Amino acid sequence: MAIKPIVRYGDPVLRENIPPVEEVTTEIKELVSDLIDTLKDARGLGLAAPQIGVAKRVFIVDLSAVDITAEVRVFVNPEIIESSGMVEYEEGCLSFPGIYQNLIRPEWVKVKALDLTGKEFVMEAEGLLARAIQHEYDHLDGVLFIDHFSTISRTMVEGKLKRLAKSA
Ligand code: NI
Repeated sequence: MAIKPIVRYGDPVLRENIPPVEEVTTEIKELVSDLIDTLKDARGLGLAAPQIGVAKRVFIVDLSAVDITAEVRVFVNPEIIESSGMVEYEEGCLSFPGIYQNLIRPEWVKVKALDLTGKEFVMEAEGLLARAIQHEYDHLDGVLFIDHFSTISRTMVEGKLKRLAKSA
């Protein structure tokens, strides 16, 4: 539908604890369409609704930038119900341009969510897909990837964060 501006670090919507969607309405479908267009344009791997300024518990993951066979996956009211293993992997976030950091997170997750027809599904994911799901899921609770940084890493990006917050 439309490419939306991506909200950057410093905007309070990124710290909101987002309430669940009551029903998968046309409005939600339009939101997902905007998320898809915005993510494709930004060439990212995932995008959560608050990142385009919408306080709805919705995110998408699209690994097609790194895997041409990947499809867009939509998660409404997601819940991570199981996770296991721990792995370190580099992460970035479209709301934090220029900041990348290796972070440790579970290697495998089981997630429950609604799809665009309002039907519940359960899926298991590992590797990059699991990583992207956990990163986007955090956004719905107002948690940002910098919250997972070690004290030292956080100190090292403090200057960049201040500049980002100033321009938000
Ligand atoms: Ni992010």
